[in-house]
Amino acid sequence: MGTSTSTTATTARARLIEMARHNMAVVESGTLEQVPEVMRLPAERYYDEDRWRREMDRIFRRMPLMLAMSCELRTPGDFKTLDVCGVPVLIVRTDSGDVRAFINSCSHRGAVVVTESAGNRKRFTCPYHAWTYDRDGSLVSVYAEDDFGGIDKTCHGLTALPTGERAGMIWVTLDPDSPLSIDAFLCGYDHLLAQFGFESWELYDQRTVIGPNWKIAYDGYMDLYHLPILHRNTFGSNMPNQALYYAWGPHQRVSSPDPGLSRLDAIPEDEWPVERLLGSVWTIFPHVSIASFDGGGGRGVMISQLFPGESPLESRTVQNYLMAELPPTEEMRKAADDQFRLLKYVVEEEDYATGLAQQRALRHRPGANVLFGRNEGGGQHFHRFLDRLLDTDDSDLPALFRSMTTEQGR
Ligand code: FES
Ligand SMILES: [Fe+2]
Repeated sequence: MGTSTSTTATTARARLIEMARHNMAVVESGTLEQVPEVMRLPAERYYDEDRWRREMDRIFRRMPLMLAMSCELRTPGDFKTLDVCGVPVLIVRTDSGDVRAFINSCSHRGAVVVTESAGNRKRFTCPYHAWTYDRDGSLVSVYAEDDFGGIDKTCHGLTALPTGERAGMIWVTLDPDSPLSIDAFLCGYDHLLAQFGFESWELYDQRTVIGPNWKIAYDGYMDLYHLPILHRNTFGSNMPNQALYYAWGPHQRVSSPDPGLSRLDAIPEDEWPVERLLGSVWTIFPHVSIASFDGGGGRGVMISQLFPGESPLESRTVQNYLMAELPPTEEMRKAADDQFRLLKYVVEEEDYATGLAQQRALRHRPGANVLFGRNEGGGQHFHRFLDRLLDTDDSDLPALFRSMTTEQGR
């Protein structure tokens, strides 16, 4: 680890401690910081087709998206394919240990080159006419090359997509020519996420849940106001309804005021266990949430990757259950399974069932507004940023994110 990396880690830990202290002060004072006003948004933003298409073009097709965890692609040759907003993507760990991503489409006539969802390969051979690519996406052989006629193979590799690996996660931008770098986009948030140490974690289980409009789902990630109400029969009956929000550009951490944090005061600050400092929910704009759990199965997080569906009214969420260590006993394995089953039930039967009915109901109230309260600053920040992003041209994206980095500080 170089000096600058360890300095960054020290700064990130100091920021975690600062947030814990802020949380303790809020609990102590019994008050909550509120944003200045209640926000009103036209409800049609959740179902209007034109708005949705703009969101696909200006958000999902040009923002870096967190498409894989490093532990899914640990060894050179490990690959993963997925479809993101209609774009077929191939992600590969190369021989040098870097991760690269490509549009999964052959340079001959465009067939999908890799049809399995994951695996390990030295070469990727197109199923149509057997053109073959290496792990770097370079075209290495053309079937019956003499018959085909001469082409410069070096100009016919797979189309590369901007890719970056940070904090044990892999970001890919679907626009090959995006002017927005992954670091500018992350606004330093990855240094905080790095405190989890996900590189060494294990993917324990993975599931897909079908849900409503992507913003209805994402609103829910940042909403703690509903916990003791909608989730009263599962986990929420004793949860606070209040939330503390911390922003790094468009990425937000959402914390519950936690009376248990005061127990940390009994030990020196530099011995505070990092897992106590990372609780509640970390969202990654525009489509990820990370929530921590420490049940009988051991330390785990659910990393939810939200993908818009074919229309404004559909989305699909891949729930990844990562564990710091795989459960060593049958009993712990069972506890981890129970925990993950509960999270699927909560999201599917409580959050998304409510969201699907909510969007149906909203469509029958033309001209209606939805409201975000003074206690829902996270939702306000998200929707305000969306408006700015939709109005920003590609060439102005880096400046938009630079301005976000200097404006933050909540
Ligand atoms: S389309 Fe891939 S080899 Fe022809
Ligand atoms: Fe919820």
